[in-house]
Amino acid sequence: MNRNDTLWNGAGRRIHMQEVGTRDGLQVEEAFVPTEDKIALVNTLSRAGMAKIEVTAFVSPKAIPALRDAEIVLREIERRPDVVYSALVPNVRGAERAIDANADELNLVMSASETHNLANLRMTRQQSFAALSEVNALARQVKVPVNVSLSCSFGCPMEGDVPVATVLDWCARFIEGLSARGVTLCDTTGMAYPGQVAALTAAFRDRWPGTELTLHFHNTRGMGLANVLAAIDAGADRFDASLGGIGGCPYAPGATGNVCSEEIVHALELMGYRTGVDLALLVEASRRLPALIGHDIPSQIVKAGRRLDLHPVPADFAAIRERALARAI
Ligand code: COA
Ligand code: ZN
Repeated sequence: MNRNDTLWNGAGRRIHMQEVGTRDGLQVEEAFVPTEDKIALVNTLSRAGMAKIEVTAFVSPKAIPALRDAEIVLREIERRPDVVYSALVPNVRGAERAIDANADELNLVMSASETHNLANLRMTRQQSFAALSEVNALARQVKVPVNVSLSCSFGCPMEGDVPVATVLDWCARFIEGLSARGVTLCDTTGMAYPGQVAALTAAFRDRWPGTELTLHFHNTRGMGLANVLAAIDAGADRFDASLGGIGGCPYAPGATGNVCSEEIVHALELMGYRTGVDLALLVEASRRLPALIGHDIPSQIVKAGRRLDLHPVPADFAAIRERALARAI
């Protein structure tokens, strides 16, 4: 019995892939990736056809030294008209810097969990909301759209489950209260599982059909792709992912990489979805990552190749075959 034909047959349905490797990925790296390499990486990701790129973060350079060159990177990348260049912003100071550097969109961040918000941003959620309301007012003045990323929407590594009502309540404050263009439900530490993802995605979609919804999964417990598919089945069409599967929040114990851009594109294209991404170009860029960050990357596609990247037969194949054919059945 095939209960779910639509999920397995994408039938050309558009899925928007949003690259976060240059922000979520590089923020935890010890090695400082040289500014010109960051710019070249973003340019390749643009050419590869990502719908949106979270280029960098305008945070305190003391908190995240890896992204201390945010201004130069955002100013000097090549802009393609069909790509949205977004930047993470934690406060008004960050928003001013990002607007100055020509961000297409500000990605505001707070956590659905009080404990994680305090640990990550050193504020209560209420304080964060007040600060982000100010950022939002500034963004509206200069007509730069705002997206809100809600960390720990699928669970907090310190508190446990975050009630669905709590997550939806924070979404409502941003969507109905502040007219945010979009919300990203973030599974910051890989606690999401498919049934939960389907339920939260469907609840969001029912309540705010006109709001841009992004799902942001980490592959911490190996459920990344399963969660992406569950979200698609429940009506989602935008996903964050990081090249090579690098990344993780520095204030989330046990955090590991985002779902891997090339793995998700590879799987979705095979299933008949249309991501608009040039997979070969993405894989090429991912192969260059270990040299930039100084260590191996999780990407299974870089390790194994694409499904139909075939291997040569063994050197003695002709002899093997002859021997086999000479044998009686
Ligand atoms: N850009 C540049 N510098 C900033 C800044 C910004 N957006 N926001 C704060 N600062 C600087 C302040 O000027 C101050 O510098 P000083 O020590 O030289 O005076 C310092 O950072 C601390 O500022 P303060 O306002 O006291 O904030 P804080 O110490 O409570 O830190 C954050 C708050 C959120 C700004 C900081 O913790 C941060 O940037 N964290 C990064 C969080 C993050 O990116 N997490 C991963 C993504 S989820
Ligand atoms: Zn993340």
